[in-house]
Amino acid sequence: MSIHHDERILIFDFGAQYVQLIARRVRELHVFAQIVRADLPASRVKELAPTGIILSGSPHSVYDQGAPTCDPAIFDLGIPILGLCYGMQLTCHLLGGQVKPAKEREFGRAHLQIQKTDHPLMAGLPQETTVWMSHGDQVIDAGGLFTPLASTSTCPIAAVQHQTKPVYGLQFHPEVSHTPLGSILLKNFLYQICGCTGQWKMQSFVRETIDELKTRIGNDRVICGLSGGVDSAVVAALLIKAAGTQVACIFVNNGLLRAGEVESVRETFENHFKADLHVVDAREQFLNALKGVTDPQQKRKLIGHIFIDVFQKEAKNIQGARFLAQGTLYPDVIESGAAADGPAATIKTHHNVGGLPEQLGFELIEPLRDLFKDEVRAMGLELGLPESMVWRHPFPGPGLAVRCLGAVEEAKLNILRQADAIFLDELHKAHLYREVSQAFAVLLPVQTVGVMGDGRTYDSVVALRAVKTDDFMTADWAHLPHEFLSKVSTRIINEVRGVNRVAYDISSKPPATIEWE
Ligand code: XMP
Repeated sequence: MSIHHDERILIFDFGAQYVQLIARRVRELHVFAQIVRADLPASRVKELAPTGIILSGSPHSVYDQGAPTCDPAIFDLGIPILGLCYGMQLTCHLLGGQVKPAKEREFGRAHLQIQKTDHPLMAGLPQETTVWMSHGDQVIDAGGLFTPLASTSTCPIAAVQHQTKPVYGLQFHPEVSHTPLGSILLKNFLYQICGCTGQWKMQSFVRETIDELKTRIGNDRVICGLSGGVDSAVVAALLIKAAGTQVACIFVNNGLLRAGEVESVRETFENHFKADLHVVDAREQFLNALKGVTDPQQKRKLIGHIFIDVFQKEAKNIQGARFLAQGTLYPDVIESGAAADGPAATIKTHHNVGGLPEQLGFELIEPLRDLFKDEVRAMGLELGLPESMVWRHPFPGPGLAVRCLGAVEEAKLNILRQADAIFLDELHKAHLYREVSQAFAVLLPVQTVGVMGDGRTYDSVVALRAVKTDDFMTADWAHLPHEFLSKVSTRIINEVRGVNRVAYDISSKPPATIEWE
């Protein structure tokens, strides 16, 4: 889905690790940014009519076989273009400059000397400033077509401007925090060079998204799967504002949910948003299928299949539905193909409803696909979702099945739910919930000996897991205060029958993972 913004920056993705960060920095400067595949044809770029273009970095060298490139015609559109790192090298390479491996690879902080401090791109910068470099190649000859604007001791051409086109390049990374004045450079590009006025705000974005959804949906019906998480909740809230009673929300109770989850979904969507909410009670079906299954992959597979089955049955009951909405975020699934302008790569392996819309013959609606998690949260608050839902930690699709190690049984799930609820409750009370990225209890399939009153017990072990992470790809175990852990442990052992021991997981990812499975 493309959203029409008066001011829009297209970011060409050449595979840089920082590409998402560039988009976020641009939005922080109140200009809408959209990441697109690097080979987007100039004709399509013209249609999208961006105010400016940023070419990202890349792990490649422009001379690598199969190195990503862009349509050279984009440089003739008269649209301001800023190439960053590889983006600058490629720009110079395509327009007649010369790129060569540097004598030394430059990686880390460097001192940038600005030769043209009066240049609009450099406005407000001191003559010398720290920048972050990460490159092997560099532009050694600007082909007489580019004016050098800045240098470092090892990189004589560290910033350039084309002499006749609105085309610029920076050899360093203005988007990272190690370039402390980088946001001034980006702001100069957006405001001084592209002429942006910075009207983009979450509020207007929400309004535009709702308008766009209204037009697309018309009088048709839409199905929205709710997972209990923030992404699907935001999608549902957007849809309800756009199409009201034409929207049917499906929430599958698979018997593997945390305590109070069905109630909180009902409270938000039935009571608050007055949505047409279908809670499907499929607990028996899931738990029967999982009986005696101990292998985690097997558990996941079974759960995935049953989910599709249950969802499909319920969706069939919703007469005349044409669309199915999903809360896919930019980092989740990056679609390739002719219809999409997005880069071609598929990342998310944990996607719960993947492939479902096509199988069921629905048209897919993904209103969040250009956004990042923190932006989705801001949108949720703007839409009036409760904070408790907006700030929820992620919860895996297979739910408590991956936290109830060994065979999944109702009795074990009940123990796990109680222990988990105590842990989360105490985190909230101690104002620690938002300090950690994800926290939960795990029930281990072992009994250990304990003593209670005069008797020996032989009961279960609960492990507590809490991590801090930005992207969930790597994570640190959270250093929660000992007094806090002690309180949680005492409460769990006192209040949850069947548990006599609590352990705290002090492993980071990697080599451990966040879930225990
Ligand atoms: P791991 O355990 O791989 O988890 O370090 C990384 C993040 O992914 C979540 N996770 C899942 N999410 N379906 C999901 O929707 C799954 O099967 C699944 N497995 C793990 C996990 O909770 C953590 O946030």
